[in-house]
Amino acid sequence: MTATTRLLTVDDAAEMAAALSENREFMRSSDPYRSAGYYTEDGQRQVLADLLRQHEAGTALPHAIIVDGRLAGRITITNIVRGPFQSGSLGYWVDQSVNGRGVATTAVDQIVKLAFDEGLHRVEAGTLVDNKASQRVLEKNGFQRYGLAPRYLRIAGAWRDHVLFQRLADD
Ligand SMILES: CC(C)(COP(=O)(O)OP(=O)(O)OC[C@H]1O[C@@H](n2cnc3c(N)ncnc32)[C@H](O)[C@@H]1OP(=O)(O)O)[C@@H](O)C(=O)NCCC(=O)NCCS
Repeated sequence: MTATTRLLTVDDAAEMAAALSENREFMRSSDPYRSAGYYTEDGQRQVLADLLRQHEAGTALPHAIIVDGRLAGRITITNIVRGPFQSGSLGYWVDQSVNGRGVATTAVDQIVKLAFDEGLHRVEAGTLVDNKASQRVLEKNGFQRYGLAPRYLRIAGAWRDHVLFQRLADD
């Protein structure tokens, strides 16, 4: 099994909508509420176009996760801020059918290397307190746990505490 990441395009919309629909139940407890339109090809075309505009503006790195030639998730650095901060926020999901095989670990390694190559000094990520798999993925990639943010993000309809992680380019 080979896992890699590449820049998303709007042409990924159909495959992305299908993968999100298949994983809807799997991601219910870790995702914000999504409209029904989010799971359609048109909805994903809009989401991807928006992310690619952010990429062109230098504020996002939106990548597809590809496993054995098939789209199997998304990994994105958003909210990239330059100047004296040089920081961005990491988020990802991996198709349930290929979980537990190191796919997220490989994808995080690749996108963090790219972000540091492009001059970022810091990548941050937040996980739900009970998302041990995601915490493990971050720790395996050298992220440091640096805090707990109460009621940080609205997930599945409730403001949920998050564990905060960061990795620095010069660690
Ligand atoms: C979290 C997620 C990305 C992990 O993807 P993955 O490809 O299965 O991750 P990997 O295989 O690279 O690594 C998972 C690690 O967590 C460990 N793990 C899995 N479940 C665990 C649990 N309940 N407790 C402790 N460790 C756990 C695995 O053993 C593995 O560690 P190891 O390599 O040391 O054995 C995936 O489950 C997912 O997409 N979940 C839904 C969305 C999500 O939570 N995204 C992250 C938001 S912060």
